[in-house]
Amino acid sequence: MMAEEYARRTRRGGDRAYCERMLEITLGILPPRPRVIDMGCGDGRDTAYLGARGADVVGIDLSWEMVRLARTSYPKMSFLQMDLRKTLFPDESFHCAWASASIIHIPLSQFNDMEREVHRILVPDGIFAFSFKLGEGEGFEKSGAMKEHPRYFTYHTVRGMGDLLKKFRIVRIETCTEKVFGSSFAYCWAVKKV
Ligand SMILES: C[S@@+](CC[C@H](N)C(=O)[O-])C[C@H]1O[C@@H](n2cnc3c(N)ncnc32)[C@H](O)[C@@H]1O
Repeated sequence: MMAEEYARRTRRGGDRAYCERMLEITLGILPPRPRVIDMGCGDGRDTAYLGARGADVVGIDLSWEMVRLARTSYPKMSFLQMDLRKTLFPDESFHCAWASASIIHIPLSQFNDMEREVHRILVPDGIFAFSFKLGEGEGFEKSGAMKEHPRYFTYHTVRGMGDLLKKFRIVRIETCTEKVFGSSFAYCWAVKKV
């Protein structure tokens, strides 16, 4: 039920157009028909968008409820239940890992393990494109689209993100001009270091 409620609340939000601009920036720096993994795909909107724009894309999510909803909403797309911190894909499977509003739930102590996994499954020069919440600190809080349910959130400054990423070189950061469900976000594009 939470999955459907999340999808309902976020489907039409003002940030949708913004998110699609971020997806277009991403597609603009990828080769034609790129292999993309949508990490923490939620209800699969971005997976479907990327697929419609010619990417060979798979969406993964930790939540079975989300995966089921994504499969029902976009039956022609591919969705798997998987943890983005430890996927089952072979090395160098993808040109891009897209993670919109999902690594915001990864505790800081696990960030570099997650980064290592993303690095492993990307081709040399692969792109890690992700959003993060601007700020500092981490912990359970009632915020975001589902503010009646406490969830774990992490915050980063732009500078802090630059220090944190060890295996990627940041090539672009866009800070969102408008708040999304009360929070400021940034999108980051980073190239795999070899
Ligand atoms: C705020 S939603 C964003 C969903 C989608 N990317 C979007 O932009 O609408 C965060 C999603 O990340 C998923 N998630 C959180 N931790 C995860 C993990 N370790 N592995 C895979 N998915 C995860 C959640 O289940 C949820 O569907």
